[in-house]
Amino acid sequence: MKNKILVTGGAGYIGTHTCIALHEAGYEIVVYDNLSNSSREAINRVSNLIGQPIEFIKGDIRDAEAMRNVFSSHHFFGVIHFAGLKAVGESVAKPLLYYNNNVSGTITLLEIMAEYGVKNLVFSSSATVYGDPETLPIDENSKRSCTNPYGQSKLAVEYILEDLTVSDNSWSLIALRYFNPVGAHSSGQIGEDPNDVPNNLMPYISQVAVGKLDKLNIFGNDYPTVDGTGVRDFIHVTDLAQGHVAALNYLEGQINTGKRDSVGFLPINLGTGKGTSVLELVTAFSKVSGQPIPYKFAERRAGDIASCYASADKAKNLLDWQAKLSITDMCQDSWRWQRMNPNGYYIK
Ligand code: NAD
Ligand code: WQD
Repeated sequence: MKNKILVTGGAGYIGTHTCIALHEAGYEIVVYDNLSNSSREAINRVSNLIGQPIEFIKGDIRDAEAMRNVFSSHHFFGVIHFAGLKAVGESVAKPLLYYNNNVSGTITLLEIMAEYGVKNLVFSSSATVYGDPETLPIDENSKRSCTNPYGQSKLAVEYILEDLTVSDNSWSLIALRYFNPVGAHSSGQIGEDPNDVPNNLMPYISQVAVGKLDKLNIFGNDYPTVDGTGVRDFIHVTDLAQGHVAALNYLEGQINTGKRDSVGFLPINLGTGKGTSVLELVTAFSKVSGQPIPYKFAERRAGDIASCYASADKAKNLLDWQAKLSITDMCQDSWRWQRMNPNGYYIK
C-alpha cells in the first residue's frame, strides 16, 4: 500500500474517477465532500467498482474543526483538492458564494494542512485562468486573466499557492489546469451528473441524444475556426484521473530524491493538445450513438472564446503523462453513462 491521500470533493465528477485511478495505483484514500454537488450514490458506486468500501467523510472544507478531526485521525502524504463550485453563470450571480467556497475554503484547508505538517497538494485549476489566449496552443507561461468570478477564484487560489511556496519552500503545490473534461468511466457506473439543464456541451449533447432535451443550441457559427463553431480541447476524464496519479508520483519522486525544495508552485496543463469544434463533436457523438442530434445555430454565448487548446508538453516531459483516449472514446463513454443512467444517480 502506498501513501494515504485526502481527496476533497472526491464524490464529484472528476473526483470519483480519480479515486478509482488512485486505488488502482495502490494509494489509500479518504474522501471529504459536503455533497453540495454530488451524492452518496456516487461513493457507493466507486466502492462497488473498486470492490471495497472507501472511507468517506461528509464535511465542508470551510469547517476548520471538522477538517482538524480528519487530519488528526489520519497521516496523509498529501491532498488532492477538487472541492469547489464550478458553474460560471452561477458565479456571476453569486460571486460571494464562489469566493467564499473556492477561495476561503482553500485557505482553511491550507491552514489546517500547515498545522498538521502536510505540505503536498494537487489543486484543480482550469484553463479558464488563461482567459482569451493570445497564442495557441496555450502553454503554462501564457498570460493569465479571467472574466468571471469562477475563473477569478481559480486564479486567486493559484496566486495564494504561489505566495505560500515563496514564504516557505517546504510546500510542494501542483496546479493542474484542466481543459474540457468529458466522458465517463468505461463501466457506465459513474459519470457527470449535472443538476437541471446542463451548461456544458457534452452533457447537453448526451441529453439530446437520449431524448431528454429537444435540440442543441450551438452558440455561434461565425468564429474564426475550421467550421465557425467554438474549438475546445476535450479530454477524457479517465485520462485526467491518471494525470493526478502522475502528479502524485512526481511529488513522491522529488521528495524521495531529496528535491522537495525544488517543486514550489508548479502549474501544469492537462489537455490532449488537440482542438475539436462543437460541430465535430456533435458529428462524432451522433455517429457513435446512432442517434440524430438536432441542433440550431444561436447567438454567441457571452464570455465564450473562439478557440482553446493546450500545449501538453510540460505534462509529458515532467510527469511522463499524456492523454490516450480519443474523441470517439469520449463520446462512447458519455453515451454509455447517459443511456445506463438517464436520470443520473437518482439519489441526491
Ligand atoms: P463537481 O461539482 O462534480 O465536484 C466538486 C465536488 O466538490 C462536489 O462533489 C461537491 O459536493 C464538492 N464540494 C464543493 N464545495 C465543497 C466544500 N465547500 N466542501 C466540501 N466539498 C465541496 O465538479 P468537477 O467537475 O468534478 O470539478 C472538480 C474540480 O475541478 C472543481 O474544483 C472544478 O472547479 C475544477 N475544474 C472542473 C472542470 C470541469 O469542466 N468539470 C474544469 C476545470 C476545473
Ligand atoms: C464548449 C463549447 C460553447 C453548450 C467551461 C468553463 C470552463 C471549464 C470547462 C471549469 C463552447 C459550446 C456549449 C451548449 C454550445 N470549467 N456550447 N451549446 O465554456 O469551454 O468551458 O467548462 O473550470 O471554466 O467555462 O465549456 O462545454 O460550456 O462549451 O454551443 O449548449 O460548446 O459555446 O464553444 P467551456 P462548455
